[in-house]
Amino acid sequence: MAGTIGVGLVGYKFMGKSHSNAYRQVAHFFPDVALQPEMKALCGRDEAGVKAAAAQFGWQGYETDWHKLVARADIGLVDVSTPGDSHAAISIEAANNGKHVFCEKPLANTLDEARQMLAAVERNHVVGMVNFNYRRVPAVQLAKRLIDDGRIGNVYHWRAVYLQDWIMNPNFPLVWRLQKDQAGAGALGDLGAHIVDLARMLLGEITDVTGLLTTFIKQRPVLAGTTGGLGAAGGQAMGAVTVDDAALFLAQFANGAVGSFEVTRFAKGRANYNSFEINGSKGSIVFNLERMNELNVLFDDDASDVKGFRTILVTDGGAHPYLSAWWPSGHIIGWEHTFTHGVYDLLNGIAAGQAPAPTFEDGVRCQAILDAVERSAGSRQWVTPDY
Ligand SMILES: NC(=O)c1ccc[n+]([C@@H]2O[C@H](COP(=O)([O-])OP(=O)(O)OC[C@H]3O[C@@H](n4cnc5c(N)ncnc54)[C@H](O)[C@@H]3O)[C@@H](O)[C@H]2O)c1
Repeated sequence: MAGTIGVGLVGYKFMGKSHSNAYRQVAHFFPDVALQPEMKALCGRDEAGVKAAAAQFGWQGYETDWHKLVARADIGLVDVSTPGDSHAAISIEAANNGKHVFCEKPLANTLDEARQMLAAVERNHVVGMVNFNYRRVPAVQLAKRLIDDGRIGNVYHWRAVYLQDWIMNPNFPLVWRLQKDQAGAGALGDLGAHIVDLARMLLGEITDVTGLLTTFIKQRPVLAGTTGGLGAAGGQAMGAVTVDDAALFLAQFANGAVGSFEVTRFAKGRANYNSFEINGSKGSIVFNLERMNELNVLFDDDASDVKGFRTILVTDGGAHPYLSAWWPSGHIIGWEHTFTHGVYDLLNGIAAGQAPAPTFEDGVRCQAILDAVERSAGSRQWVTPDY
């Protein structure tokens, strides 16, 4: 019989909902999970909102002050699903109180904060894991196995894009994701962090980067109830967008491969298009989140009359990771399953006293790369990440 751990989760909107689902599902589908989560309390600042969300998502109770949450004796794991400006404060205080920490990506808003978070979990001997959930798509794990087994030979190219289009309307308001003091960065930190993490997992460390950042729409309507209006357009208070709308960068990997990365919130028609292609001396691999149950591969040693890209349906529990917990082969899974896989690994890691990847150390390394891209865009030079 597995032990249990009390969980407290801060933030109850997008990620709060998806993480709650993972805690609810994990022991039902992975009965071998080493620690069963007890969903003790959901935390948010608006009492009516957090109370309703706690009831909807299946939490035993709620808190309106995260300081109280991270001090509770019945909570052993704190889940940080808030915007980046509170990741460091909540994670560090939780770790100082002896709690394990599961933090959303990117780990922090600055490299310095990320380092302080890593130091806090190390100093307090608690587990710190970052939710780069795309690592836990079974097809991505298969790509990793094929590369590590040498099936595509020496890797030459990494080519990744993460494209969205949700802020193209100039009247879209100045939400927290468009303000540097709250979000840390724009498309670079939000989308770039994901594909940098995938690149690091699949190809290894990045030694140098050069990049550019751009902001297409520099002022937007201020949301009702917030401050920061700069001027008025037709009576509407406007505020400055202080993050990038798009980022492009090149990278040199330690293993000799080269990579390109493109992230944007201005790719009309692309709602959440996260895709990479890897070319090696003996084959290629292509992944696209919109077809997340599939991996496209080409192997050079196939007979010439059948050589070409083929599509593997990555749903076979006997051959592919995580899938034996779900449905019979061919019965596809979805985006939300990646969070359940992450929580499964996290709970097993806590039971074993070992932080599962991506650890806070991975979070710091990713942040160092984002920081280097930003510095490169400013200086128009190649920059070495400050690991
Ligand atoms: N892994 C992924 O695929 C993924 C996807 C989206 C967002 N994220 C990350 O998750 C985090 C949250 O993003 P989101 O989309 O859920 O944002 P959101 O705006 O939907 O929700 C943020 C929540 O945090 C709460 N909050 C903010 N400051 C708080 C504070 N000081 N105390 C208590 N609650 C506070 C808000 O009230 C809200 O409930 C960000 O770091 C983001 O980058 C990750």
